[in-house]
Amino acid sequence: MQMADDYEVLELQFRPDLLEPAAHLLNEQWPRSLEARKHSISDSKTDLPVSLLLITKDKERVIGFVRIFKVANRSNAGLIESLVISPDMRRCGFGRRLMEAAEAHVKRLGYTTMHLSTNDQHIFYKRIGYIESTSVNAVRKCTAIHQTSDDEDDSSCNEAIDEPLPEPSPNVNDSTDTPIATSLPPPPPPPPPPPLLVPKIDDTVTKWYIKHL
Ligand SMILES: CC(C)(COP(=O)(O)OP(=O)(O)OC[C@H]1O[C@@H](n2cnc3c(N)ncnc32)[C@H](O)[C@@H]1OP(=O)(O)O)[C@@H](O)C(=O)NCCC(=O)NCCS
Repeated sequence: MQMADDYEVLELQFRPDLLEPAAHLLNEQWPRSLEARKHSISDSKTDLPVSLLLITKDKERVIGFVRIFKVANRSNAGLIESLVISPDMRRCGFGRRLMEAAEAHVKRLGYTTMHLSTNDQHIFYKRIGYIESTSVNAVRKCTAIHQTSDDEDDSSCNEAIDEPLPEPSPNVNDSTDTPIATSLPPPPPPPPPPPLLVPKIDDTVTKWYIKHL
């Protein structure tokens, strides 16, 4: 069992060789294309947005990731997004440790609050000192010439979940190979599809949180 001192937190821009392992860690939790993932986290600088990595000190493995943005219209506030700890390392204190490093990072920059939203990790964030608050917006700066929709994460600490595509509306004017006698009335339109049933799970309500640093 490795001890906490065997790990350290680094800014991604100082270890560009770890971009791909970090992208894989995130994709394990929230699958998307590897290139889009790398693009979405590669813009990292100390004065935000920054991508922080929790790595083993032998620098062989990325076991945690978190990204911090500035908050729009609030010069002293940071916003957490995409916090993840490797599945085999959870419930060992690393999530807390990475969040403390994220908070210390923005505090050094003069920030006084950290914000985030979650739909399923309420207990974790309350355990590490966050209290319910109102929503805020992230400042996102597009540095790419071509921005894909994959770059447009929501501002949640969780990642956006793909919505099911809407059913195409039936087109009663579609021509078919079967000729229809002109004397017959047109066939009635098909019945509308049944409503999509989204299971309601109690702990998946999105809430916003704040911590005063
Ligand atoms: C959420 C996550 C980052 C937490 O990291 P972690 O390393 O497992 O958390 P820690 O071990 O540091 O836990 C800190 C405290 O929260 C508690 N905690 C963590 N997860 C918990 C859970 N699911 N239920 C209840 N308590 C939990 C721990 O018991 C601990 O409490 P303690 O310090 O009082 O003993 C991790 O579970 C993860 O990566 N989840 C998948 C991705 C995700 O959901 N990210 C957050 C998006 S908002």
